[in-house]
Amino acid sequence: MNVRMRINRWTSGRREMLNGHALTSGLVQGHFVVDGQGIDEPIPSLPGIHRQSVDVLRQRIAEDVNMGVLGHMLFPVHPQEAKDPDGRLGLNSDGPMLRALKVLREDHGEAVVLMADVCMCTVTDHGHCGHVAGGAILNDETVATLAQMAVLAAQAGADYVGASDMMDGRVGAIRTALEDAGHHSTGVLSYAVKYASAFYGPFRDAAGSSPQSGDRRSHQMDPRASVNEAVMEAQLDEAEGADLLMVKPALAYLDVVAAVRTATRRPVAVYNVSGEYAMVHAQHPDADERKAVVEEIMHAFQRAGASVIVTYHAREIFERGWLGVQA
Ligand code: PBG
Repeated sequence: MNVRMRINRWTSGRREMLNGHALTSGLVQGHFVVDGQGIDEPIPSLPGIHRQSVDVLRQRIAEDVNMGVLGHMLFPVHPQEAKDPDGRLGLNSDGPMLRALKVLREDHGEAVVLMADVCMCTVTDHGHCGHVAGGAILNDETVATLAQMAVLAAQAGADYVGASDMMDGRVGAIRTALEDAGHHSTGVLSYAVKYASAFYGPFRDAAGSSPQSGDRRSHQMDPRASVNEAVMEAQLDEAEGADLLMVKPALAYLDVVAAVRTATRRPVAVYNVSGEYAMVHAQHPDADERKAVVEEIMHAFQRAGASVIVTYHAREIFERGWLGVQA
């Protein structure tokens, strides 16, 4: 089996994220990175979350780390006119996400856990998660590109590459590519169970990654599918060498989280997605009222079996001292 058990123990940050006493050790904040300088652009559909150039993000994450936020997940955002059908931007080693990973690794060493999104939807002009031919999303050609993107993220200093595309066989191909390139300690966070969900709307606004036509139903899971299919997806990725297995979205799929928890042996992550976050903010624009709802949701993730929680709420939890954090 293509598995290195040491990956999840390699740094103090990873050990703390996976085994820390507090629920809050497992929180991962999502960030959107753009080219340029001094850019700090609020995303209207994601209150409190901004698109930031590397210099601004660097400052922001320094403050986050100071408050105790350990996990950081980065997504690149590119202008539509720079994209092409084959997502060549994804292979540019000078892209904003890769530059951000480098400086963050320099700034914080093992004290952060950096996760890099690896998907083609942010770099293709058609907005699909892979190479397209004759209206179909090609699987194996896409996997080959994803493996190259993963190596670049590893070179830049990612702890985990986040395979968020749902192509068949990409975890194994990414693991092999990382090994061939000498990145034996870089892990794969597999979006093992990712649904073609209606809860991703604000993210697609933020990242400019909506499919220009069609949808993602030929690769992401059908929300009506049985838990068996989810368990099989997770087990396949475990066998291919995934270090973390993620279920996404989170709130509407806690039954799936619990099933994956018992059916596999890798740590389980949930992605508390943009639409879930936006709903909470719409219901409770006032932070004091939001607190109890956010805390209840985080406990629900933990109870279902998640040890890693990717959530846009992470920063606020630390900032305001929720969930027992010493503010
Ligand atoms: C795809 C990706 C998506 C999200 C994270 N990675 C969107 C999609 O599949 O269309 C959504 C996350 C969110 O809604 O917060 N690379």
